[in-house]
Amino acid sequence: MSSSIFANMLPFILDWLNLLIRWAHMIVGIGWIGASFYFVALDFSLKQRKKMKDGVLGTAWEVHGGGFYHTEKFTVAPDDLPDDLIWYKWEAYLTWFTGIALMIVQFYWNAELYMIDRNILDIAPVVAIVYSVVSLTAGWFIYDALCKSDIGKNTPLLMGLVFLLILSASYFYTHVFSGRAALIHVGAFVGTIMAANVFAIIIPNQKKIVASLLKGEKPNAKYGKIGKQRSIHNTYLTLPVLVMMVSGHYPMITGHATPWLLVGLIILGGAFLRHLLIRHEVGDPLKGYAWTIPAIFVTLSIAMYLTMPETRLNTGKKLLSNAAIMTMVEQHCTTCHSASPSHEDFEDAPKGISLDNLQEIQKYNPLIMKFAIQSDYMPLGNETNMSEADRKALGDWLAAQH
Ligand code: HEC
Repeated sequence: MSSSIFANMLPFILDWLNLLIRWAHMIVGIGWIGASFYFVALDFSLKQRKKMKDGVLGTAWEVHGGGFYHTEKFTVAPDDLPDDLIWYKWEAYLTWFTGIALMIVQFYWNAELYMIDRNILDIAPVVAIVYSVVSLTAGWFIYDALCKSDIGKNTPLLMGLVFLLILSASYFYTHVFSGRAALIHVGAFVGTIMAANVFAIIIPNQKKIVASLLKGEKPNAKYGKIGKQRSIHNTYLTLPVLVMMVSGHYPMITGHATPWLLVGLIILGGAFLRHLLIRHEVGDPLKGYAWTIPAIFVTLSIAMYLTMPETRLNTGKKLLSNAAIMTMVEQHCTTCHSASPSHEDFEDAPKGISLDNLQEIQKYNPLIMKFAIQSDYMPLGNETNMSEADRKALGDWLAAQH
């Protein structure tokens, strides 16, 4: 008895865990990105002024929340470095930890439903999870090896290869996982690289610098340089990652036939946008970075063009009867989308969408069109093996109801 109560409570508990972890992930993620944006802007806004202390590279005057702030950046470090430095590192670590926790409750826990799409690759849940863990780990080691090799000294070549690495990962993910899981994995792949950059490179190198300064020695300049390289990568990867993380809500992206191509465009568009924001934020004259505007426009336009809805409509076939449509929906949707779903993973209709009768199907007509006809997001993971012909027939019927 008690175990069945627990079984009934499990989806509810998982939903709450999901919400709380997602909330935490957003809070720390905003903290990380906020600090990162702030320091990039601060770096660019430093000015050399007449009255500056010895050893100061530049200063910035800022106003916020009713106070005035005067920040100095040292060329190397002040002579009397205090030992109570503020590090800004937990935002990055916690973003990664909460991200992985969310990956577990959202995807690993229900791998069958959320990670696997049999039309893409029919794998066992445990295999999907192994692919996920191994690929996320491998991504960091490959990236790190690239940066540390001789290639790392050639910035454009390195950037190109990192871009290719992410594209290859996207290609892999979109050929083993469902669209939604694939895009989230691209985000996690890049996010893991970014967090590991902070944990394994930027902070340890900074610690070495601080340690030699506290001992009164001159720090080795190479540590600063290595940290800076990784920090720049992180800066330009921030915005594309955000798009991957919310892409699950957009079947035009997750349901696309070649999502890895979209990933490439998102990375380029996001990096151009980041460049535009940085240069604008620091008050550089527009003509120095005006090229970013058409570049963003072109990348996003190509993405829009590529994601135009599939024309599964107007097949010219005879419309199915209402009864035939009801049977089809019962076969493909109502195991989950019912006031009382028979699917073991659902207590209530997902997203409150129940499709138990024709009125309800009518009510959700535009949504069904979007998620099952113009994209393959539904049925989830195509668990019910809905055929192309069925989608077309349902699409024609839905379109004829207006
Ligand atoms: C295996 C269970 C399952 C089956 C079968 C299924 N769905 Fe869903 N559906 C879900 C879940 C879970 C969600 C919520 C997904 C999310 O959170 O993004 C959902 C969401 C939706 C949404 C709302 C999407 C949104 O983000 O607003 C629509 C519309 C939908 N389903 C339609 C259908 C139709 C039409 C069918 C049948 C052709 C179908 N579903 C079959 C589980 C299922």
